[in-house]
Amino acid sequence: MKLAKGKLPLSLMAIIISAVAFTGVIFTEDLRSLTEEKQNTAKKDEFIDEDKNAFNPSNCKMMDGKWVFNSSMEPLYTDKTCPYIERQIACQTNGRKDGDYRHWEWQLDDCTLPRFNPRLVLEKLRGKRLMFVGDSLQRGQWLSFVCMLQSIIPEDKKYMNRTRSLSVFGAKEFNATVEFYWSPFLIESNSDDPIITDTTKRILHVDCITKHARNWVGVDFLVFNTYVWWMSGHRLKTLWGSFSNGDEGYEELDAAFAYRLGLKTWANWVDSNIDPTLTRVFFTTMSPTHMRSSDWHNKKGIRCYNETKPVMERGHWGSGSDKQMMEVVSSIVERMIVPVTFINITQLSEYRIDGHVSVYTETGGEMLTKKQKANPRRYADCIHWCLPGVPDTWNQVLYAYL
Ligand SMILES: *[C@@H]1O[C@H](CO)[C@@H](O)[C@H](O)[C@H]1NC(C)=O
Ligand SMILES: *[C@@H]1O[C@H](CO)[C@@H](O)[C@H](O)[C@H]1NC(C)=O
Ligand SMILES: *[C@@H]1O[C@H](CO)[C@@H](O)[C@H](O)[C@H]1NC(C)=O
Ligand SMILES: *[C@@H]1O[C@H](CO)[C@@H](O)[C@H](O)[C@H]1NC(C)=O
Ligand SMILES: *[C@@H]1O[C@H](CO)[C@@H](O)[C@H](O)[C@H]1NC(C)=O
Repeated sequence: MKLAKGKLPLSLMAIIISAVAFTGVIFTEDLRSLTEEKQNTAKKDEFIDEDKNAFNPSNCKMMDGKWVFNSSMEPLYTDKTCPYIERQIACQTNGRKDGDYRHWEWQLDDCTLPRFNPRLVLEKLRGKRLMFVGDSLQRGQWLSFVCMLQSIIPEDKKYMNRTRSLSVFGAKEFNATVEFYWSPFLIESNSDDPIITDTTKRILHVDCITKHARNWVGVDFLVFNTYVWWMSGHRLKTLWGSFSNGDEGYEELDAAFAYRLGLKTWANWVDSNIDPTLTRVFFTTMSPTHMRSSDWHNKKGIRCYNETKPVMERGHWGSGSDKQMMEVVSSIVERMIVPVTFINITQLSEYRIDGHVSVYTETGGEMLTKKQKANPRRYADCIHWCLPGVPDTWNQVLYAYL
């Protein structure tokens, strides 16, 4: 199968990023002080229960809330009942024993976030296409969406077609598709497919996007992301302007600067090719990595290994989410003509040190061996998330906006 081939370098890349991040080369700023949120209790009291239930996303701050444990809350699927789940993120199947991480609900301060309702989603998507575009974290969000949706569709009324760059899940009776398009930088690079695992050999073509973007035309809902691939910990080999020598003549740029150039190309493409009366555009903000247990004051911890509870300290922000990169995104989106809705998952995911695949995953296309599992310092993947899990909540936020 083609797919299996594609999976190998992805996992490798995760390990490489992990390794780099762990040495602490990537993240240098102390960001916590920037993010302390003050609770506005006066405002909270004004809301009576009725108001809480009438959900209106424009009045709700999706970022302000807390995780509440609810043992009777069951996810809409398990990693055994969803036939499309990938082994990389199927934590229970891969031997994870603790299951509490599946029973936390994100509760907003000011409103009630509606539960993901597959039936309503199917109605909403009738005759339409929803496409997630981005990296492996975005693929996790896509799979979470598909797994929740397919839970109410009988076997013969759904299909999945996968190729290396585009995967399409379809609900036949609704003529609806939920798709994933692989382009980890959004713009073109020499490492889109096949993936170059040595991050120093990657070359970004920051002003080229058409090869990918032509696949996004005519889609009704587009959900983009791109972040972690820019965080390789060294300057990025970047090409821009007209160039004719293939990959010759690149310059090495800081991540934030290269990111700005790449996102501008993306924004220009969206502004000149998307009709906002026909297509809604979303952007999932950065998914935090949890490679440094000192971020949440666990001195004996090894990355996110063995963590079974979220961080409860309000406003917690670790070294795995770069505020400067977030500001690049917001400053570019602010100036766009086409409105872009942020699915701002960063703060809510920052708390979830317990939600990553850790050692219940694969490396190089193979399950971690017993010996590797016993070596979390090297092998724990604290970038990707277990399914069911945290990405289900990202989609609850997306659902609220739909
Ligand atoms: C816990 O989840 C159950 C099942 O979804 C729900 O009925 C109940 O209201 C939830 N409890 C709280 C306190 O949110
Ligand atoms: C199915 O949806 C596509 C758009 O996603 C549309 O072009 C096509 O006409 C639809 N087919 C039917 C039979 O409704
Ligand atoms: C899935 O892909 C196969 C092979 O490319 C194709 O024949 C089939 O029509 C596709 N199914 C759908 C529903 O798109
Ligand atoms: C991780 O958790 C397991 C099971 O609770 C325990 O046996 C083991 O000692 C823990 N490892 C570390 C390094 O804390
Ligand atoms: C996302 O939310 C955080 C606070 O939770 C905020 O600092 C950040 O600016 C928001 N990002 C965007 C792109 O709006």
